[in-house]
Amino acid sequence: MVIDLSIVNFVYLVAVVLFILGLKGLSHPRTAVRGNLMGASGMLIAIVVTLFDQNIVRFEFIVMGLLIGTVLGAAFAFRIAMTSMPQLVALFNGLGGAASMLVAGAALEQELTGTNSLGLQFTMASGISALIGSITLLGSLVAFGKLQGLITESPVLMPGRHILNITLGLISIGLIVWLVLDSSNSLPFWILVGVAALFGITLVIPIGGADMPVVISLLNSYSGLAASATGFVLQNNMLIIAGALVGAAGIILTRIMCKAMNRSLINVLLAGVGAVATSPTQDNEVYEGKVKSTSADEVAMLLEDARRVVIVPGYGMAVAQAQFAVRDFTSLLETKGVEVEFAIHPVAGRMPGHMNVLLAEVNIPYEKLREMDDINPTFEQTDVVLVIGANDVVNPVARDNDDPGNPIAGMPILDVDHARTVVVIKRSLSPGFAGIPNPLFAAENCLMLFADAKQAAFDLAAAIKEL
Ligand code: TAP
Repeated sequence: MVIDLSIVNFVYLVAVVLFILGLKGLSHPRTAVRGNLMGASGMLIAIVVTLFDQNIVRFEFIVMGLLIGTVLGAAFAFRIAMTSMPQLVALFNGLGGAASMLVAGAALEQELTGTNSLGLQFTMASGISALIGSITLLGSLVAFGKLQGLITESPVLMPGRHILNITLGLISIGLIVWLVLDSSNSLPFWILVGVAALFGITLVIPIGGADMPVVISLLNSYSGLAASATGFVLQNNMLIIAGALVGAAGIILTRIMCKAMNRSLINVLLAGVGAVATSPTQDNEVYEGKVKSTSADEVAMLLEDARRVVIVPGYGMAVAQAQFAVRDFTSLLETKGVEVEFAIHPVAGRMPGHMNVLLAEVNIPYEKLREMDDINPTFEQTDVVLVIGANDVVNPVARDNDDPGNPIAGMPILDVDHARTVVVIKRSLSPGFAGIPNPLFAAENCLMLFADAKQAAFDLAAAIKEL
């Protein structure tokens, strides 16, 4: 059945409005679930009307693709830990880029079997889709490998890499020009796929593990742009707009991540920053004889005597799934008249909004979640800061901008060391994501509660109840 084009375009318009409202909803935790539903409904009606609109693929293939995708998607979703989400997102971005590139390639091959000459828009858009799609695929695979520990997290700085990248860029432009001028064969398209794949590797491999969050959101944006280019190939308005929205949202997220880590995008892409420490400070230089450990009973007394307590959650809270137990002991403190707030660092955990999601899951009111710039000036008036499984986001070493081997140099941190007392809950003195020691743990006003975050939260609740 083929539906009238005006109906199709009207339904696409409705879907686009739903996408935009969905994105708006996603900008605040309170409306995020509704926003997600709106976006998903928009996508559903867009897919359904597209299936009725163009009878270009047999339904058997679509059902087969759907089944394979569902099985693989479900297997990934069940197996991957919440804390490995960045790798999964990287992989999905890469697959999105690959799908756009392959669809453009298939459309090109199909058009070449016909007698009509190919237009400028078609060939140009196919070339752009091949370029961005292939960069996204290989760039994302490298990012996946770095985050999964399959390849080194350190920046791999090849000599002459800028010249190599410029050369690959120029060759890519040359291949797109060839494709546009000689639209009788698909050879330039497939060579471009290969060159862009190499380009994807050389662009991402020099970037250190600490800067991967920025890279992943940028690749997310690329996957949208590749889809949009493929929309021009297929002359499908829906794909053009949806791709452009993903591209724009990805760029906005990239800007937010850059700001959170105090990096410029150019710096991330070209400077090989985000290093794993080149001459790491020895742990014993920082910690020896200075670390004071404490117990849950002692911390419970400190908390009960405090007027204001700030909790800083981090990656370790997510690993331990301690958020339920944390909610329970904070409620206990509040019933005893202690003011409790949560300080959220934008890159705490392993994905944007990671801490917000965990705390929303246990119904901590949004008003209690304070952003970094907002809460930093208040630490001096805070009696106790409880750091739960966070490390890099409270590491004062980040303030040292001059050390080139410091992977978090210049990253804004939560100024917890300005509080009267800091208690850090973690299992050992092991470093966090950036792989460097944290002098906070040896600070005069810091006590270490060495324990799994969930167990520590249970112990604190029990100790507070007993007081
Ligand atoms: P991290 O610096 O990674 O430190 C997490 C700490 O949690 C570790 O030192 C670890 O110490 C502790 N931990 C692990 N399991 C624990 C458990 N079961 N109980 C208690 N503690 C546990 O975390 P952060 O401060 O949240 O910083 C995030 C880092 O990840 C930043 O460097 C950021 O750039 C990077 N990153 C962020 C993202 C996004 S988008 N958020 C994505 C990728 C990377 P022990 O082993 O001693 O317990």
